[in-house]
Amino acid sequence: MKALIAAGGRATRLRPITWTTNKHLIPLANRPMLWHVIDKIVAAGIKDIIVNVNQGELEMMQKALGDGAYWGAQITYLEQKGGALGVAHVVANAEEHLRGHKFLFFLGDNIILGSINRFVERFQNENLDCMLAFSKVKDPHRFGVPEFAGNGDLLRIIEKPEVPPSDYAVTGIYLYNEEYFDAFRTLTPSARGEFEISDINTWYIENRKTGYEEITGWWKDTGTPEALLEGNALVMDDLPRDTFRIKSDVPDGARLQGMVQVGENTRISSDCLIRGPVIIGDNCAITDTYIGPYTAIGNNVKITNTEVEHSIVFDGAQIDTTRRIVNSLIGLNATLRDVKQSHPRTGHQLIVGDNSFVEL
Ligand code: DAU
Repeated sequence: MKALIAAGGRATRLRPITWTTNKHLIPLANRPMLWHVIDKIVAAGIKDIIVNVNQGELEMMQKALGDGAYWGAQITYLEQKGGALGVAHVVANAEEHLRGHKFLFFLGDNIILGSINRFVERFQNENLDCMLAFSKVKDPHRFGVPEFAGNGDLLRIIEKPEVPPSDYAVTGIYLYNEEYFDAFRTLTPSARGEFEISDINTWYIENRKTGYEEITGWWKDTGTPEALLEGNALVMDDLPRDTFRIKSDVPDGARLQGMVQVGENTRISSDCLIRGPVIIGDNCAITDTYIGPYTAIGNNVKITNTEVEHSIVFDGAQIDTTRRIVNSLIGLNATLRDVKQSHPRTGHQLIVGDNSFVEL
């Protein structure tokens, strides 16, 4: 089997972070989102992986994921010709690579805890043409939603219905046979101008042998900072205990409580309190600081005299402020510092980019 990962599309609500970082490369627990996706795919025994990217983003993705050798896999990159024309179009765009194969289609902004092995095995063992994964959600209107008949039979999938026919979302993890491409030729773009994967799924339900399974531990990035922080926390909770290792010398006075990971060549001063789960990358300097639960700090980060909790701090950021930083995303090489308090007060001097969100 092959796997195709969708990693294109627009992520407008995460600007300004997504001006410079593709949403799928935002770190969760200090690893790009897509790394977690590839972990699951490879663990299910699939090593031939195609990554769909936006036009012009090939190089950035290649740099972040490499050729797949890290996973003992092979990664091929493909630009989505014609632009982000919809989730169903991502697969059609990869036809020459997928024709003749059964394949797993994974939306790169979906994170699943636990394994997908059983899901893939059922598809193969039961010789299904299509296999879907459903998850119970509070807000089904944001997703593809399955509709069931009174006798429990699966009838169809409706994309983002105003009145959802069930409490389930169709997650972004799908299995198909090569008839996908026949189904795609029957599609027309929806009212929002996209080729909808829900229409493909309905085609399979109506015409072919389709299975489904309910899964738990699924996280879908809604494209907001709050959702990313939730995903970060979920992934941290899912990490095996032995990933939380201290790879640098930590002075006796520093208090590390709970699950804490510290990378190489990182300096933590003796007046720090770090309360896990916390992940700190390589080459960081943490001085006179409190770091609270569910904080992931990248590499080459400098934090002085600050309290940081439930936040993602990207590589190269520098934070030196007496303020308490919570529920925050601090971008690549960003600087946070106190404004000098002299008289008359200097006020806030701001250079705020388009679409930024600032609370003072
Ligand atoms: O996450 C599950 C949901 O994903 C399903 O329940 C929906 O049925 C399905 O349509 C999809 O809905 P979204 O509105 O969440 O799709 P979104 O536009 O966020 O794109 C999903 C992923 O696919 C995301 O990683 C970006 C990527 N993508 C999207 C489009 C439209 C592409 O690579 N190319 C595209 O053209």
